[in-house]
Amino acid sequence: MTKKSLLNQCTPPIVWNAVASVKTAVRTTARKARERDDSSHARNGSTQALDIYWDAAMGEALETWGEGTAWTEIRFLMANCHGKALDIACGTGKTMEILAPFNDLEIHGCDISDFLINKAIERGIPRERLKVCDATVTGYEDDFFDYSYSIGSMEHFTEEGVLSLITEARRITKFSSMHHLPVARNGKDNGWITPWHSYHNNSVDWWLARFHSVYTRVHVIDSKWEDNLSVGKWFICMKDSAPALKD
Ligand SMILES: C[S@@+](CC[C@H](N)C(=O)[O-])C[C@H]1O[C@@H](n2cnc3c(N)ncnc32)[C@H](O)[C@@H]1O
Repeated sequence: MTKKSLLNQCTPPIVWNAVASVKTAVRTTARKARERDDSSHARNGSTQALDIYWDAAMGEALETWGEGTAWTEIRFLMANCHGKALDIACGTGKTMEILAPFNDLEIHGCDISDFLINKAIERGIPRERLKVCDATVTGYEDDFFDYSYSIGSMEHFTEEGVLSLITEARRITKFSSMHHLPVARNGKDNGWITPWHSYHNNSVDWWLARFHSVYTRVHVIDSKWEDNLSVGKWFICMKDSAPALKD
């Protein structure tokens, strides 16, 4: 199997600033995070495997993986939303581009990989709407965004990182925060599994326990995305200020 086809299978379970000094600081953070990554730690999920996000093949795989599934679904989820929204761990900005025609939305994106953020800039996403940062410590103000979402990303964070990400997303988001995740096809908590792109392959309840530790209202919606190990779900986390959603 070629590296590219392997990537295509594994991907989903799946700030930028013009100021040079900020870029340098941010690159240092990313580099330090990558230096922390040692593949033996990455194997048990206690450390995130980050090098993969500077791999050209990953950049390529991120161009196609959500077609007809997550990228169609995010359009429906955002269709009636107005205001600022953050694409958390936006990668190459592909989803931001897909949502660009939604004129009531101003989409921003953040990601730890300056390599992938550069690709978002190359595709024409305004650089002032992009930020290179760790999604668990974004630096945005409280309630800066009306909505936020992440797609195919949170499952790759450490367990501690998952909780920090949910907490940070709640802090910076006024209404709902929506997260597309793979859950285990066998319904079990299989833990941290290590195909080419390692991730938590756990049950809906495992994920709900994490979301409910931060949010009272969480809705789970099926996604069409699937592979042989996992099926896709959307976890829609709503603050009390968010309009009610009918089940
Ligand atoms: C599988 S990719 C998905 C990218 C994008 N959401 C998409 O659907 O194409 C996972 C993304 O999470 C980003 N990421 C991983 N760990 C991160 C962290 N701690 N903070 C911010 N971004 C992170 C990676 O750089 C990568 O862009």
